[in-house]
Amino acid sequence: MIYAAKEFTLKNGLKVTLKSPEISDAPKLLDSIIKTSTTTDYITSLPEDYQKYLDDMSKEEAFISGSNDNDNSYLIAVYVNDIIVGNCFLDFLGNIKTRHRGRIGIAITEEYRGMGIGSLLFDEMIKLAKKRKNVTQLELEVIKENERAKRLYTSKGFVKTGDRPRVLRLPNGKYLDEELMVLYLDK
Ligand SMILES: CC(C)(COP(=O)(O)OP(=O)(O)OC[C@H]1O[C@@H](n2cnc3c(N)ncnc32)[C@H](O)[C@@H]1OP(=O)(O)O)[C@@H](O)C(=O)NCCC(=O)NCCS
Repeated sequence: MIYAAKEFTLKNGLKVTLKSPEISDAPKLLDSIIKTSTTTDYITSLPEDYQKYLDDMSKEEAFISGSNDNDNSYLIAVYVNDIIVGNCFLDFLGNIKTRHRGRIGIAITEEYRGMGIGSLLFDEMIKLAKKRKNVTQLELEVIKENERAKRLYTSKGFVKTGDRPRVLRLPNGKYLDEELMVLYLDK
């Protein structure tokens, strides 16, 4: 689904635009995701994982159109002066028995973290989820030691519902554990 452009001014005065990315923004979106993956251990990918998209940009374009044209998902990109500095996705599960659930994920490039962009994206996504019939919970996974992310999620009302050990193994052999979190929209 399409999230139409909205402009916001952050507490530090920076102006950002949130909107669903255009197909032609595929290289910019990919660039922001690769940058994020070089600066955090807390997402599931490394830069090498995106080589196939760099080799064939139509794959990244398909990712954007797949989300924009899908009745069960939103992809919002964050633009600063026409550069993408982060993104957030929300997918609603589709079966009758699972359509009460939405899954949310987020990534912001390093220079733009800690400015309130994550909070803004979550506020917008939570509003969209609340408007959707049948949806009663949003779910996410977060690496246990990712304090900044957990602080964001807790501030929006997410609560921990479980643990999943050793979901990531870093190139140095270190394992990272994950926590599962849920935001109940009907409580
Ligand atoms: C985690 C992430 C999405 C948070 O987004 P953000 O834009 O940096 O967060 P915000 O600026 O909106 O801040 C959210 C909260 O974290 C707090 N925070 C900011 N910097 C922090 C830090 N270094 N340590 C702990 N908390 C911090 C803020 O104070 C705010 O809490 P508050 O509302 O109680 O004041 C972002 O930092 C990011 O993309 N990190 C790398 C990738 C990642 O971890 N993705 C999430 C995977 S689950």
